Amino acid sequence: MDQQLTTSAAQIASFLKDHDDILCVSHYDCDGISSAVIVREMLEREDKQFDQVFLDELTEEKLASVVTDHDHETVLLTDFGSGQLPTVNTVLDHHDVAIIDHHEPSEDGTLEHHCNPHLVGIDGGSEISGAGMTYVVARELDQANIDLSPYALIGATGDMQRDGDTYQGLNQEIVEEAQKHDHITIKQGLKLYGRRGRNLVKALTYTTDPYLSGITDNESGAVQFLRSIGIELSDENGEWRSLADLSLEEERMIVNGLIKKGYGDIEQLIGSVYILDNGWEIREFASLMNACGRLDRPADGVTIAREDDFDLAATIKRKYSRKIGRYLSFVEDNMDDTEVIQEIGPGTLIQADDSIHANMIGTIASICIRSDILDDPIIIGMAHKGEDAIKISARASSEVTETGLAMSELMETCCTTVGGEGGGHERAAGGKIPRTEQERFIKVIREELTESLSKDTLTHQA
Ligand code: C5P
Ligand code: C5P
Ligand code: ZN
Repeated sequence: MDQQLTTSAAQIASFLKDHDDILCVSHYDCDGISSAVIVREMLEREDKQFDQVFLDELTEEKLASVVTDHDHETVLLTDFGSGQLPTVNTVLDHHDVAIIDHHEPSEDGTLEHHCNPHLVGIDGGSEISGAGMTYVVARELDQANIDLSPYALIGATGDMQRDGDTYQGLNQEIVEEAQKHDHITIKQGLKLYGRRGRNLVKALTYTTDPYLSGITDNESGAVQFLRSIGIELSDENGEWRSLADLSLEEERMIVNGLIKKGYGDIEQLIGSVYILDNGWEIREFASLMNACGRLDRPADGVTIAREDDFDLAATIKRKYSRKIGRYLSFVEDNMDDTEVIQEIGPGTLIQADDSIHANMIGTIASICIRSDILDDPIIIGMAHKGEDAIKISARASSEVTETGLAMSELMETCCTTVGGEGGGHERAAGGKIPRTEQERFIKVIREELTESLSKDTLTHQA
């Protein structure tokens, strides 16, 4: 592993050894929760006293409020902090502070105990996550913490750092380390979504890519198929079996059965499957952690991870899909209401106000861009956040980014123009603006979009 990075991680490890009574503050998303699991385990193993809290964003008010509520001299921030150095230095002026993060560091402000890949020339956007950085520190603290390596990969997966079937850079080094020590199993298998969390019939009927005619969306067809190739649908206790319950031989029988049925694109369904010790496939577990965060229950994510609490996992999944269902109905029910669903150049804007929670507007925008609910190449979601702000989430299809228009730049430009802030990735970006600037923001983004790309350019591109 990179020498400069391990040196920086070792510094944080010794900082943690020298301090006790620590307030650990983590970001509330999958990566933040995964970093928090690592923090908890490593500090418990060192017999440290600590409290753990989560925030959806690191603002002065929110940080000040958690440090007032939890009176500790030492604060450890994971999966955020690097981009908010002035905030950290102002609010935590009288604290001993360490940051472990992978976001771009702020240009102004410095911090003595700051572990970030960008500071040693490594890309924190694609090569390592916040949980990955926390893992590197944990391993410097004690080699025995290698068993926490899967959480580094869960975090990377949640932050979309997985590229098809593989990981890059430091993430790939961690994959190899986790595999070598038997903390993760990688096998060639069926990439059905819901290896652990769905029964076999559901996992098959929900498969839309490729479309399995006669099985997709067809429960009795799926049952018939499985029976015809000799797969038992339930176990000896009468419980439905999931793909994770099948033997390697049975999994092969399904693959061969699908091939025999003549599905052409079946190779899309076969590939590297990363399986955690608890039997979950890594993407499935990452989306469960993401759901915990979006439901504002990040601590439940930590509990599920540490205690293999599958009942709690089932509750979270149920609540999350109900919530998504409700929000999608809101979008569909208001399709003709031009206040709610507005056309802006080549895209669609969802003005949800209080009807969609700010933490979920990004998820809804992502679903809309992937599905045909709003059949548009750009989706901008807006929802009220707190008393005075509006949260914005922008998502674009690849045909948009191929024209050179990046959502990160669009958000940064449009949000800062109206006194807010924004950024993110090419296809997924976000921002926050003052509530009073709603109309001006819509005007600005409409102009930007209409100027940079017309529907014609896109049609010609496609
Ligand atoms: O970097 P930010 O970490 O906070 O990313 C969070 C969200 O951005 C993810 O939940 C995902 O929906 C979206 N994302 C994406 N594609 C990427 C990167 C992020 O859809 N390449
Ligand atoms: O919240 P959402 O999922 O829409 O975020 C998508 C991306 O936009 C994330 O990578 C996030 O870090 C980024 N973002 C940002 N500034 C904000 C809000 C989101 O850079 N104020
Ligand atoms: Zn992260």
